[in-house]
Amino acid sequence: MGKGNIIVSLDLGTSKTCCMVGGITPSGDIDVLGYGISETSGMKKGTIINIDLVVQSIIKSVELAEQMSNTKIKNVAVGLSGGNISLLSNRGVVAIPRNDREINHQDVERVIQAAKIMAIPYDKEIIDVIPREFIVDGCDGIKDPVGMIGTRLEVSACIVVGLLTAIQNIARCVQKAGLSVESMVLKPLAAAEMLLTDDEMNMGVVLVDVGAGTTEIAVFQEGCITAYEMIPVGGNLITNDIAIGLRLPYAQAEEIKCKYACAVSSLASEKADIEIQSLGDSAPRKISQRELTAIIEPRVQEILSYIISTIAGFNLKTMLPAGIVFSGGGLVHIKGFLDMAQQLLDFPVRIGTTDSYGKEQTFTVALGLLNYIIKHRALYVNLTMKERSASGFFERAKRILREYF
Ligand SMILES: Nc1ncnc2c1ncn2[C@@H]1O[C@H](COP(=O)(O)OP(=O)(O)OP(=O)(O)O)[C@@H](O)[C@H]1O
Ligand SMILES: [Mg+2]
Repeated sequence: MGKGNIIVSLDLGTSKTCCMVGGITPSGDIDVLGYGISETSGMKKGTIINIDLVVQSIIKSVELAEQMSNTKIKNVAVGLSGGNISLLSNRGVVAIPRNDREINHQDVERVIQAAKIMAIPYDKEIIDVIPREFIVDGCDGIKDPVGMIGTRLEVSACIVVGLLTAIQNIARCVQKAGLSVESMVLKPLAAAEMLLTDDEMNMGVVLVDVGAGTTEIAVFQEGCITAYEMIPVGGNLITNDIAIGLRLPYAQAEEIKCKYACAVSSLASEKADIEIQSLGDSAPRKISQRELTAIIEPRVQEILSYIISTIAGFNLKTMLPAGIVFSGGGLVHIKGFLDMAQQLLDFPVRIGTTDSYGKEQTFTVALGLLNYIIKHRALYVNLTMKERSASGFFERAKRILREYF
C-alpha cells in the first residue's frame, strides 16, 4: 500500500492511548492495518498534567501500531476534547468565476476558508469547520455541491473553537513524540461516525461518552453537531469510591470493579464470594456483590444526574426523538447500568456498538477518526497543522486581518 494511502489516528484518553493505522482501499473504505494501545500516564480528567509522561504513552502506542502494521508513522490525526471547546456558527460566500460555472473541490475549500473569517477571542483557535449545508444560488439544503452549476456558493458552517494553549499542549506532545499532527477532530464527531446512524443524527440524538476521567456530551440534529460539553467525571470516580470504601489499593479496586461492578442492588448477588485484601488487614476477607453495589450505585446515579442537567442546560428548542447513545468504557460495562439510565433519563437509551468491535469501546474513537478523515477529505481539505503551527497570538491576528482585507 502506497504511503499516501495510509492514515493514522490517535485517541489520547485519560486511561489509554490508542493509535490506529488504516489503509485506504481502492473503493475508498478503511482497512485497519494495525493498532497500538498503551496505558496513559500524565493525564487527569482529560487534561495534560505531565507532558513527558504523555509523550511516552504516545510513543509506546505508536511503536506498537508500527510493529503490527509494518509501517513508519509520521503524521497522525488527533482526537480532541475539552471543557473549553465551543461551537459557533458562521457563513462563507464565494463566487464561481469560471465560464463553465461548475463547482469543484477548490471552490468548496475556498468557501470553507471564507467561513473561518470571524472574530474569535484572542486565546481561542479554530479547530475544525463542519459544513451544515451548502447553498448554491439561493438553493439550500445541499450536502455536496461538487459538480453542480452555479455562480454563488455559500456555506452555513459549525465552527469548532478551542483554547489555544490546550490545543498547543496536545500538538507539543505529539511533536515531542516525533510525529506531526495532520488534523485535529472533535472526538464525538469521530465516535458518531461509528456509533450513530444517519437517521438518528437527522432526527436528533445525544451521544454520551463516559470515559475514565471525562464525560463528553454531544447533540446531533439535522445531521450535524449542535451542542457539546465535557464534564470532568468518569469511571475513575467509581474506582476511587471502591478504593476508599473498602480501603483497597487503587489497582485492586479497578480489578474488582471490572469483574463485579453492578449499578442496581436488586440485580446484585448476596453471596459473599468476592475476595478482597484491605490495606492494614492481615488476612483477606470476602464481601458480596451487593455490598459493592452499595458503593457504586450512588456514584452512577450522580454521573447520570450530571448528564441530565448538562442536556437540560443546552436549552434545546426541539425534541431528541432518537434518545441517548452511550459509549466509552466508564459505565457501559456495569451490570444494570442501562436499566438505571432508562429509569432516570427521560429518553430512549442504548449502548453504541461498532460492527467489528461490538460493545468493546477501546477502538471507537480511533476507528471513527480514520473514517471521519476519509469522509471529509473527499469533500474538502481540513486545516493543516502547518497552518496551525504558525498560529501564535500575533501570527493568527495578522492572518485574520490579511483575510479580512
Ligand atoms: N469491565 C469494565 N467494567 C467497569 N468499568 C470498566 C470496564 N472496563 C473498563 N472500564 C472503565 O472504563 C474507563 C476507561 O474508559 P475509556 O477507555 O473510554 O476512557 P478514556 O478514553 O481513556 O478516558 P477519557 O475519555 O475520560 O479521557 C475506566 O474508568 C475503566 O475503569
Ligand atoms: Mg475517551
